[in-house]
Amino acid sequence: MNSSLLTAPPLSLYIHIPWCVEKCPYCDFNSHALKSQIPEADYVDTLVADLDADIARFDLSERPLHSIFIGGGTPSLFSADAIKSLLEQVLSRFKKNSSDGINSSKNKIEITLEANPGTVEADKFIAFAKAGVTRLSIGVQSFESDKLLKLGRIHNVNQAKVAANLAHESGVKSFNLDLMHGLPNQSLENALDDLKTAISLQPDHLSWYQLTIEPNTAFHSKPPKLPQDEVLWSIQDQGFKILSDAGYQQYEISAFRLVKDNEVDDKQCQHNLNYWNFGDYLGIGCGAHGKITDTKKGIIQRTVKVKHPKGYLDPNREPLDHLNTVTDDELPFEYMMNRLRLFSSFTLAEYQQRTGLAAETVLPILRQAQSKKMMDCSNSSSIEGKWRVTQLGHRYLNDLLELFL
Ligand SMILES: C[S@@+](CC[C@H](N)C(=O)[O-])C[C@H]1O[C@@H](n2cnc3c(N)ncnc32)[C@H](O)[C@@H]1O
Ligand code: SF4
Repeated sequence: MNSSLLTAPPLSLYIHIPWCVEKCPYCDFNSHALKSQIPEADYVDTLVADLDADIARFDLSERPLHSIFIGGGTPSLFSADAIKSLLEQVLSRFKKNSSDGINSSKNKIEITLEANPGTVEADKFIAFAKAGVTRLSIGVQSFESDKLLKLGRIHNVNQAKVAANLAHESGVKSFNLDLMHGLPNQSLENALDDLKTAISLQPDHLSWYQLTIEPNTAFHSKPPKLPQDEVLWSIQDQGFKILSDAGYQQYEISAFRLVKDNEVDDKQCQHNLNYWNFGDYLGIGCGAHGKITDTKKGIIQRTVKVKHPKGYLDPNREPLDHLNTVTDDELPFEYMMNRLRLFSSFTLAEYQQRTGLAAETVLPILRQAQSKKMMDCSNSSSIEGKWRVTQLGHRYLNDLLELFL
């Protein structure tokens, strides 16, 4: 790596809340079914201590924060008071962009909280907004009762619709709905109806994921009957068209933002955009991952925190489980694995700044991908040439990424 090429990217913060009411049979996230009361106060204290250790370890006191994402698990199980206390403590630890304070209306950063429709009562969204949350991400998954049942969800169709309407009125700046397709016994018509119902609720952002069967899940040990490949392709093709006709612009493999006439507000998820642009992020909480660029040392490091809540909350143990430096060999694939998910173009100058590696470390592979019509470029002999994944490249993204291995 040539450290003179490296620049410090925006810094985000991911906060993991590991509890759920029930464990869903398809889910491989670090989430645990609640057996007793959530140790809210202890967890908030441990998160703050975890953050302090990261700030000292990476000398981050001078870097402003770009975004916060509170994910899980089910963060909406936490009280708004606990979220407020957590956010106040977190924000007070970062450099302010101006004398107005980091979350004054002038400097407001995006703060997302994931919510499950079955865990929110009428006032909770309003209280989360008052606590500082600016964006809600609601896990709806489907609008069909039998699909929700099969997915082990604790909410019903009506609760999902109510949650979306509450989000509109809560005072947050924007909200996202998570929807899945390719569900057990789902027909093309079922999947498109789900999408149309989601659109009728007018979320600012839609995340539309194809269900994947992950190892170590109940669905993996006892696989459900999934739609045939031809049905899956049709769901995608027709679904993309429905979304686009309704004003939802795809900017990432599974992410769509609502674009309204004359609207200047960007509805892309700023936090996830920072991941996909190979930005930096701290990860605090059970099993959370982080990535930090140290421009002085010319290295990029990754952190992993203790995974199980019992171990993470153990006062005799430090939250950090693992710290390693990403090697030069790993960086091209890691950069592309994130960046090629996006529909916008990138330049090799950006690649150099984010990885500290010379453009030549990927240029031959990009040209190979160009010859396979999986990528195109405005000017492949210039470092400022704009590289973009083609429609074919996005359809066969795994094959495209394998070229960089
Ligand atoms: C971090 S998860 C959980 C958020 C929240 N706890 C919930 O389930 O509503 C974020 C989203 O990933 C998606 N997801 C989770 N497991 C998946 C899988 N196996 N295949 C596809 N999408 C999945 C779901 O849409 C989920 O809402
Ligand atoms: S509610 Fe979300 S995080 Fe929890 S088990 Fe279900 S999918 Fe996983």
